[in-house]
Amino acid sequence: MSQKPLLILGIESSCDDTSAAVIKNDTILSNVIAGQDVHRLYGGVVPELASRAHQQQIIPVVHAALSKAGVRLQELDAIAFTRGPGLLGSLVVGTSFAKATALALGIPLLDVNHMHGHILAHFINEGQEMPAFPFICLTVSGGHTQLVLVRDYLDMEIIGTTIDDAAGEAFDKTAKLIGFPYPGGPLIDKAARDGNPLAFTFSKPQIDGYNYSFSGLKTSVLYFLQKMEKENPQFIAENTNDICASVQQAILDILFKKLVLAAKDLNVTDIAIAGGVSANSGLRSRLLEEGEKRGWRVFIPKFEYCTDNAAMIAITGKFLCEKGLFTDQSVSALARLPFTRQQ
Ligand code: KG4
Ligand code: ZN
Repeated sequence: MSQKPLLILGIESSCDDTSAAVIKNDTILSNVIAGQDVHRLYGGVVPELASRAHQQQIIPVVHAALSKAGVRLQELDAIAFTRGPGLLGSLVVGTSFAKATALALGIPLLDVNHMHGHILAHFINEGQEMPAFPFICLTVSGGHTQLVLVRDYLDMEIIGTTIDDAAGEAFDKTAKLIGFPYPGGPLIDKAARDGNPLAFTFSKPQIDGYNYSFSGLKTSVLYFLQKMEKENPQFIAENTNDICASVQQAILDILFKKLVLAAKDLNVTDIAIAGGVSANSGLRSRLLEEGEKRGWRVFIPKFEYCTDNAAMIAITGKFLCEKGLFTDQSVSALARLPFTRQQ
């Protein structure tokens, strides 16, 4: 007799994207994402505005995800939601919605760590090859830069992290210096495609082990631009593509130095990337090149699963559900949720 498929609703609201997804076993039926343009005016995410926008968007987004999936609320087996890390006011919206809905439906709740979600997005089944354990995942987003040794779906260890800015912040902060609106990462990516990555060089950090630092790069770019603009006030406008390509190259050099070191030391050859910055075309092609050169199997998420989305929360919920790792109505959102799950 065939087993009834597992239907889970995933909810993501950790930062400035409201998202809901429905997963049937390991196949995504829908993944609806509503962004928040309101932050553009302010050059960064304003937590209070993000929270309010989540409140306005969560019900229509969940409705859209269910109807796109052709699934009724009553058919759901469980609800997975992002408990943290993230902005507390944003997390509270998804957490409260998930708790109330699970209570009303009398179904179990699954609390997901957002960073695990980014990594486990690689296991959403779309017929692609999947990484084999153990693998290393470079998770690069607006809030995090982590080198993670993944031993199993729910057994992961951070072996390196940033001591200051995240890689996404390095993109966004340098983009701001160039005059791009927030978030500038994708705009640097686009301009870099027509620029020379070797046009300018910036200072590189010397940090122990597998850890990262990006604050020095930002300062180095700032001083460089100030100096050049003194000589030629049109410098940025005349050299935008070369500046973007060179900044991107510097960020990628920093990221790959530690990734290569960790892969060598730990003798791991399956290498994945995850998080918003993994949408960067330079990072994606550099990973392919390095993989070819070093005999790695490389895993690059679909664009839809790079930036924040609920599909990754739903697939993580599936793994938690299979292990019986449910939570209950006493759970609350945690802005600084530890990476390692407390049993
Ligand atoms: O994972 P994510 O959507 O949200 C967080 O959890 O932080 O990542 C957002 C970050 C932002 O810093 C954004 O600028 C960056 O990802 N990003 C990019 C690209 N697309 C998004 N950075 C560089 N190139 C891109 N194509
Ligand atoms: Zn994220």
